[in-house]
Amino acid sequence: MDIRDFLSDYVAFESVSCDRSKVAAMQATRDFLLDFLANLNFHTKKVETDLHGIVLAKNDQKKGRKTVLLYGHYDVQPAGEGWSTPPFALTEKNGRLYGRGAADDKGGSSAILAALHDIFTENKDFPLNVTVILEGEEEVGSPSMPMFLQKYRDELQADIAVVADTWSVDDENIVITTGLRGIISLELKLKSAEGDVHSGYGGSIINPIGELAKLCASFHDGQGRVNVPGFYDGVAVPSDFELAQIEKLPFTDSEFLKSIGAKKLSSDKDARSAIENMRFSPTLEFNGICGGYSGDGVKTIIPNEASVKITCRLVANQDCEKIKSCIREAILTRVDTNLEVSLNFGACSNAYNLPLSGISGDEASILGQSLRVADREIESVFGHKPLYLRDGGSIPLIRMIKDILGMDSILVGLSSAEDRVHGVDESISIKMLERGREFFKRFLTKLAQ
Ligand code: BES
Ligand code: MN
Ligand code: MN
Repeated sequence: MDIRDFLSDYVAFESVSCDRSKVAAMQATRDFLLDFLANLNFHTKKVETDLHGIVLAKNDQKKGRKTVLLYGHYDVQPAGEGWSTPPFALTEKNGRLYGRGAADDKGGSSAILAALHDIFTENKDFPLNVTVILEGEEEVGSPSMPMFLQKYRDELQADIAVVADTWSVDDENIVITTGLRGIISLELKLKSAEGDVHSGYGGSIINPIGELAKLCASFHDGQGRVNVPGFYDGVAVPSDFELAQIEKLPFTDSEFLKSIGAKKLSSDKDARSAIENMRFSPTLEFNGICGGYSGDGVKTIIPNEASVKITCRLVANQDCEKIKSCIREAILTRVDTNLEVSLNFGACSNAYNLPLSGISGDEASILGQSLRVADREIESVFGHKPLYLRDGGSIPLIRMIKDILGMDSILVGLSSAEDRVHGVDESISIKMLERGREFFKRFLTKLAQ
């Protein structure tokens, strides 16, 4: 099969999980995937959820064989405005394929599905038990996944999970992701009065925009560290092994700045580089802020409301529930008690980290064995040994798989910074897709032996 044709059909579905008007497109994507897997003689199941169902598929599984759980997500982020080509019509240009989801995660999951196609059309009785989960709620924080994992616990038991939904450096330098940050999301609203008032009243009442700005400014100290008591409790510094891996990354802070068109890093902080900070430090970031009038011309009002959306990224040993209380406490002690505060928390997931023993020895464990197989096959397909790095992004499901199914995940990223994941003109390198497909084929074949 031509992976470009497959990805083109896959991208054509506008499977935007946060958009209520796209329910039918989500359904159609599931049917497309179920069909594909049924054609490989997999037993497929549509698992309904409150939002967008899950595709679950298994080959004929036999006792005594190793079992691998393959995960990907078929939902994407909204396309947004300003694309050079239509976001849902996959377009080839200079060795790259452009479209929403081309990389995250329709590209990654296509490489896995194409490998399954290669394997199972060649040998219907390929000696590996393979379970596939394709999720439709990843980009909205995987709200149905804890229930699904609990309910299907026995059916989902496997030796190891394998995922292609993270970043590498480029199509020669592949990263095996050893950690993902956790995430907390919240929305905070300050309200001062029943409605906006004429700014002729200025000087007599509290302005919630100013109060919110002061509060936001209080969340970081002069070094850019998060100024919330208890936020850093228990956070560990990177190990020597991890620092040595970072040194091998073939780019520097200044190249990073150039690639995003920025002039300055947020601060020096404790870390030796921005790259280290992004991978090993927790953060509190403002995602959006609003209040008052920002239309054309002048409107002389004192608004009665202002709000901000915030996300935190968490690292190993931080407990998202505890951090939530620290944040709530900090907000309530800092805000003027005459303002009404409404605080809504959304996502709350802890960081995931591979046990380092699995990477640096421990031959006996299934994790250790699988990592070594991945290491060798990455070198043979991509030409270089992989780097072992924690990443700054989050995939809450990976930690859920660990907590609920007791399984570790091997995260091999086929995306790279050039792909502009979540942004306008998202794309993926065709070479990366083809190599990824070949890698997964060899990796699964070696695991089956
Ligand atoms: N595939 C990404 C996560 C990712 C990207 C991890 C690159 C590591 C490197 C995933 O689809 C994603 O965007 N996750 C969200 C999670 C959120 C919606 C709960 C994120 O990280 O913002
Ligand atoms: Mn993803
Ligand atoms: Mn994403």
